[in-house]
Amino acid sequence: MKPKVLVTREVFDETLAFLAEHCEVDANQADVPLAPADLARRLADKQGMLCCLTDRVDDPLLAAAPALKVVANIAVGYNNIEVPACTARGVAVTNTPGVLDDSTADLAMALVLATARRITESEAYVRAGDWQGWHLKQMLGTDVHHATLGVFGMGRIGQAIAKRARGFDMRVLYHNRTRLDAATERAHGLEYRSKDALLAESDFVVLQVPYSPETHHMIAAAELKKMKRSAVLINSARGGVVDDAALIAALTAGTIRAAGLDVFEGEPKLNPGFLALKNVVLVPHIGSSTEATRRAMAMTAAKNAVAVLTGQRPPNLVNR
Ligand code: DGY
Repeated sequence: MKPKVLVTREVFDETLAFLAEHCEVDANQADVPLAPADLARRLADKQGMLCCLTDRVDDPLLAAAPALKVVANIAVGYNNIEVPACTARGVAVTNTPGVLDDSTADLAMALVLATARRITESEAYVRAGDWQGWHLKQMLGTDVHHATLGVFGMGRIGQAIAKRARGFDMRVLYHNRTRLDAATERAHGLEYRSKDALLAESDFVVLQVPYSPETHHMIAAAELKKMKRSAVLINSARGGVVDDAALIAALTAGTIRAAGLDVFEGEPKLNPGFLALKNVVLVPHIGSSTEATRRAMAMTAAKNAVAVLTGQRPPNLVNR
């Protein structure tokens, strides 16, 4: 008998075809998010689960799924999953590192450029029919080239952002819980800074840290005050890393110049304060959203699930 797998949200046909070679698949291709009670009901007889960051996997859900062996998240971040609870119940947790680094770094740079050069504000102005012709002081922005970029979180995605920044002749500072070795710093052209020094020196501060109790609100009113008034904040990591109410206050008061945000506290709901501001670029958690990358993420998750269900060690095991 094939093991049973629940796929909680819509995935690609090839993902389902691959899973079907090895498993009996129950797929929510309607893509309406499953309510917690429906999720528990459909998971009750399953050995595997492919889920997304919009699915909360906690101990009560695990208790309702006694046969479960693997939770394969279609994301590199896994703050939607209670990993210790899974470990305690002998459930493997996997993620999708590597395949989304370049796409996520591209989006972070897109936010750097869009905020610096006021792209969305300019576009709205043209669309509204307000453009009366060229003039010298129109939509003055700030330069990206030769500016200083400070990255919190110098993992694979952080390093991919640094690589792109060097193409713009930027100086790249970083802060990590653990400092990288000197050879890696040299290879990537990186300068290590304390948190406060990075905030004070950077023209663009990019957040690329995982969300955890330690990183909750790591950028709040006090940190925003330490940034240059001309600086820009980019959050391509997770909602909750930034105190959104404090950011809105800082953008309103001119404490910092602008922000580019792919992620939000309590998303998909937004703090309505953002909507009134022109100096913020808002996109809906699309960091990894290219066709090729999302296909690769879904297939990586499927391969992780099948590995566990066929008695192998999955390539991307998260449990310690
Ligand atoms: C991730 O992989 O964690 C991303 O946020 C999903 O796009």
